[in-house]
Amino acid sequence: MKIEKNTVLEALKTITVAGEGSNMVDSGAVTNVMIFADEVIVDLTISTPALHIKNRAEKDIKETIKNKVSSDAKVQVNIKVEAPAKPENPNLIKGKAIPGIKNIIAVASGKGGVGKSTVTSNLAISLAKMGFKVGILDADIYGPSIPLMFDVFNERPLSVNVDGKSKMKPVENYGIKVLSIGFFTKPNQAVIWRGPMAAKALNQLIFDADWGELDFMLLDLPPGTGDIHLSIMQSLPITGSVIVSTPQTVALADARKGVAMFRQDSIDVPVLGLIENMSYFTPEELPDNKYYIFGNGGGKNLAEDLDMPFLGEIPLVQSIREAGDVGHPAALQEGTPISEAFTAITRNVVEETVKRNEDLPATEAIKITTMAGCSAVKK
Ligand SMILES: Nc1ncnc2c1ncn2[C@@H]1O[C@H](COP(=O)(O)OP(=O)(O)OP(=O)(O)O)[C@@H](O)[C@H]1O
Ligand SMILES: [Mg+2]
Repeated sequence: MKIEKNTVLEALKTITVAGEGSNMVDSGAVTNVMIFADEVIVDLTISTPALHIKNRAEKDIKETIKNKVSSDAKVQVNIKVEAPAKPENPNLIKGKAIPGIKNIIAVASGKGGVGKSTVTSNLAISLAKMGFKVGILDADIYGPSIPLMFDVFNERPLSVNVDGKSKMKPVENYGIKVLSIGFFTKPNQAVIWRGPMAAKALNQLIFDADWGELDFMLLDLPPGTGDIHLSIMQSLPITGSVIVSTPQTVALADARKGVAMFRQDSIDVPVLGLIENMSYFTPEELPDNKYYIFGNGGGKNLAEDLDMPFLGEIPLVQSIREAGDVGHPAALQEGTPISEAFTAITRNVVEETVKRNEDLPATEAIKITTMAGCSAVKK
């Protein structure tokens, strides 16, 4: 019996991929069906890189075609993962939208030194390993550390000409594009920033730079929940935020403030979840031993309490610190428990981004109405 494309499409309409909304034909996930005698080739594009979802989709397609179309069919499934696109918002497109940048994820904490920059660096590497195009905007005006963690602290962005306009070209290492406020401030210069000025500087790093196409831009925020944060958050169309905390009570209390800041009416940036860093100590030579020196379950409990996803735990391991110090993020090394922990967390971040983009409209930037100055004081 000749296999008809329509019959295959009707059969595929009975399958829904987790996280993709309606059935795989109507949602647009099935991008092509080709039939050569008894050979059926199905091209599928989905937005989540989770292996179990890909495997499940492939199995469902094969079984459904064999059961509903022809038991002789030889089915081949090609699956492509594409970053979740932000729903289009006409206001944003006209105003502050950033052409080519699909998702901006802010990494924040509340308390300082809990590992925001370490998490940002390693999330970026894991995302790139999954095939996403990634950039980091280091917004830490107090202590920019991304240039050091990516071993580009001696570099400066070049100027390039894009459509007759001069733009900054982000510095690149390990396939990640990086711009940092640290490229423009001298280390021995204490810069006193006011919120709107910091927001303006960051706006320039975004809009006057040639980022090209990015699936994810990670924004490494300074510690705290002050006026600077309000200005940054209000001036950029941030897709969602990820909160980093260590398990100590003091850090968790500050993380709670961080969540409250994102959720307040004048900001309203969705919180994608909490990452607990330095959850337990693992000696390198005894990787199976976990010592919960700061207590166990604090991050998970806080996430539950604040009704947000818990995205995962990262152990306290000497090599994570060493890798950061030499500018070679730990997630670059394949097959280690550390890179696996980051991969698992990154998958959760991507899944939460997919859900957020399905459920909510794009976050709008708020026009900055005051432009207070900034002064630089030489020490
Ligand atoms: N899981 C970890 N294991 C070991 N060391 C870690 C881990 N996470 C972070 N560190 C180390 O802790 C220090 C602080 O981390 P990091 O700079 O990422 O924190 P931060 O929250 O960005 O700090 P700040 O608030 O100053 O921006 C760094 O030396 C880093 O290498
Ligand atoms: Mg930092």
